[in-house]
Amino acid sequence: MKICFATNNQKKIEEVKAALPSNIELVSLKEIDCREEIPETTPTIEGNSEQKALYVYQNYDTNCFADDTGLEIEALNGEPGVSSAMYADQIMGSYRDSEQNMKLVLKNLNEEAQKGNTNRKAQFKTVFTLIIDGKQQQFEGIIKGKIIDTPRGKDGFGYDPIFVPEGYDQTFAEMSLSDKNKISHRAIATRKLVDFLNTSI
Ligand code: IMP
Repeated sequence: MKICFATNNQKKIEEVKAALPSNIELVSLKEIDCREEIPETTPTIEGNSEQKALYVYQNYDTNCFADDTGLEIEALNGEPGVSSAMYADQIMGSYRDSEQNMKLVLKNLNEEAQKGNTNRKAQFKTVFTLIIDGKQQQFEGIIKGKIIDTPRGKDGFGYDPIFVPEGYDQTFAEMSLSDKNKISHRAIATRKLVDFLNTSI
């Protein structure tokens, strides 16, 4: 069976491909000739994940799945959440800039601390939406942790330098990619998706 992963991120495709059974042929957006930007306009991670999968299913008539991810910080009422990629865009005038996004998170947490709220708990959440023959299913992966004061580490991307997963001392950006990929939100959601595909296709 052919399934489209609604992403152009080759790393994500390789990660999922490696875990899939051989009877599933994974294709990217490019391979189904989907070149336009897919709308992500809902207020939730679950909603955006569903929106992307539905867009591909309806416009390209192909079984597919899509992912959406965000960092949810308790002291910031779940922000940046669904806006993780563009958190600082409006305030800092940047465009999907990880450095600026992290700066804004740390600034907002400092402001909270000055008000007496020193809670640094956070979690990454990934949601996959799979659509096969019109039937939808979601798979969630969550990793809990905390936000540190000063970025550490060079690997990874996004908010990795300020996120330390629970039970660890290193940030995601200080871990090797293979160590991060064993425990990450995306890895947890991917395992659930792949288990489902392995047992039901
Ligand atoms: P996406 O839905 O996978 O594109 O993720 C949205 C945004 O969340 C990214 O632009 C990053 O800022 C952030 N993000 C997602 N996954 C990770 C991760 O594994 N580490 C750090 N930041 C991430």
